[in-house]
Amino acid sequence: MYASFKSIGAYIPEEIRSNQWFIDRMDTSDEWITKRTGIKERRIASNEENTSDLGANASKVAIQRANLDVGDIDLIICATISPDYMCMPSTACLIAEKLGIKNIMALDISAACTGFIYALSVAKAFIESGMKKNVLIIGAEKLSNIVDYTDRTTCMLFGDGAGAAVISGTTNKEEAIIDIQCSADGGLKDLLLTPGIQSGEAQFMQMKGNETFKIAVRTLTSDVQKIMEKNSYKNEDIDLFIPHQANYRIIKAVGDALKFEDEQKVVTVEKYGNTSSASIPMAINDCFENGRLKNGQTILLDAFGGGLTWGSAIVKFNG
Ligand code: ACO
Repeated sequence: MYASFKSIGAYIPEEIRSNQWFIDRMDTSDEWITKRTGIKERRIASNEENTSDLGANASKVAIQRANLDVGDIDLIICATISPDYMCMPSTACLIAEKLGIKNIMALDISAACTGFIYALSVAKAFIESGMKKNVLIIGAEKLSNIVDYTDRTTCMLFGDGAGAAVISGTTNKEEAIIDIQCSADGGLKDLLLTPGIQSGEAQFMQMKGNETFKIAVRTLTSDVQKIMEKNSYKNEDIDLFIPHQANYRIIKAVGDALKFEDEQKVVTVEKYGNTSSASIPMAINDCFENGRLKNGQTILLDAFGGGLTWGSAIVKFNG
């Protein structure tokens, strides 16, 4: 049995928060934010919407586009670092309830911005082992809940949103996910963290932006080189390079180092900011909806985030 990437969906919250919102509240400028990050806008979920609502909305689109019924899903994996509840219940359980799915396994993954690739990897393993047939994977974040809006060095980076995909079993090797690699290094935990429960501090994200930037560029580049080499893939075998959307400068530096053409690179950070685990599925969904991503094409995913975690994947899109 092979794992096939069958469909993509997303939920983009309605409220647009432009750079002006930050200029009105802190010492910053459109020029600084644009030049350093490439971000112009991000989406912010309403008070009535929590991470599980964003995730459930994205899931409905993905399930419908996979031509499945909610009853066909036999595993739900939600990647998030901004869950509705601190420890329990998991956001995946809440999404299952919102979709009307009962009596199946549902779990969260905490791997920050690499969360969607981690979820994809777990889905692939469950399907290839024969344990599950149709796995719903989600990257959902209401980062506005954990952003410190008094910290001008990080708050303008992040936004809210969700993306979801259905990964199904197939015997057709042509449709199979080619490869996924995921890694972590807890020794670099201090670069990006929300203080733990034991600290008693407010649960806001903290980041050493400059150090993280340099490691991100290095790691994202070498990770892609490794997976491409391992699978004997060349740049021309890739239709779209879809990296985690943290910062335009990072995407450009990595894309240039890897020598991808502009029409291969996918950039959405200017309109959504960094949505952590949701950024890759939201970007895939954008490409699907605007006709850039077609059935049978090959996409290369690449992410890096708090943990530290990183990962990449070469995937056939069968939607
Ligand atoms: N407006 C104006 N000036 C600012 C602002 C602001 N919003 N924020 C900081 N500055 C100032 C600083 O005080 C500093 O001033 P100084 O030179 O007088 O000391 C100057 O701008 C430069 O600050 P740096 O921190 O060096 O800026 P940098 O170029 O590194 O950009 C940024 C900061 C955008 C955060 C960048 O480092 C970055 O994107 N880092 C990587 C983020 C990332 O990829 N994270 C991983 C994924 S996220 C996750 O896992 C949840």
